[in-house]
Amino acid sequence: MQKVRKAVFPVAGMGTRFLPATKASPKEMMSIVDKPLIQYAVEEAVRAGITEMIFITGRNKRSIEDHFDKAYELETELEMRNKQKMLDIVRSIIPKNITCVYIRQPEALGLGHAVLCAQPVVGNEPFAVILADDLCDANKPVMQQMVEEFDRCHCSILGVQNVKREETSSYGIVAVDEEKPDVHRVRSIVEKPKPEESPSTLGVVGRYILTPRIFDMLLNVQPGAGGEIQLTDGIAALLKYEAVFAQEFEGVRYDCGSKLGYLKATIEYGLKHPEVGPEFSAFLKEHHCDWSN
Ligand code: G1P
Repeated sequence: MQKVRKAVFPVAGMGTRFLPATKASPKEMMSIVDKPLIQYAVEEAVRAGITEMIFITGRNKRSIEDHFDKAYELETELEMRNKQKMLDIVRSIIPKNITCVYIRQPEALGLGHAVLCAQPVVGNEPFAVILADDLCDANKPVMQQMVEEFDRCHCSILGVQNVKREETSSYGIVAVDEEKPDVHRVRSIVEKPKPEESPSTLGVVGRYILTPRIFDMLLNVQPGAGGEIQLTDGIAALLKYEAVFAQEFEGVRYDCGSKLGYLKATIEYGLKHPEVGPEFSAFLKEHHCDWSN
């Protein structure tokens, strides 16, 4: 049985919700405390045993490639100044056994189209999709939880969480049959339904494991919500041929594609940060912010 060895990171989006910060630099390079969002996403994939990272990039995304590349000048400089700790940080951004592949998405035609751009590199095997702006904090990384489930069911799996009904129009929403308490068989999926029309409140949150048949589906998907080629519509088509599961993973997800989610993640990760956490916590207390929930 095939293992999940490859992960696709669609990073070609324009990040308009963070303008002007994202005018000349990618939203995926925005950092939570001291690490860019895309690095958290790649680390999650590495922890799940994935060894090939496929980035679907666009204009203004060169810094993502640079981030995962060797930085000769910086390393020489740090070596000369005897800054071993910094050097270790810079060198350990990506482990040695990991390969990175960059594919340019010429036009931002939607998430489904971005995933389809990965087909020549993914080939005929199951693969993960990780949306870096959905930052997930969990004891066992979310993609690892999903890969373990995949090793049992060998079907496509969507990472889902309950969302507020008034927010269904921001998500792909699934209708499910109960299987196990946390893993459900998907009956249908719809992209960004209005709250009153939503089949449930289980929203897909930026983590997918997909079988390669999804590519055949995406080839035939017509532009859907927002005029874009939606991954959700490809998954809806896949349901006619294969079982798809929705996994309610353990962990907290921050919507770092929104300012509020990004700020919440910054506070939580700041409080947990080994270097600044204790002082930051004291600072918040001084300012009467009780963050001890
Ligand atoms: C995308 C997907 C949507 C999913 C969401 C998770 O939407 O199209 O199905 O629920 O990511 O963050 P976007 O947030 O890019 O509009």
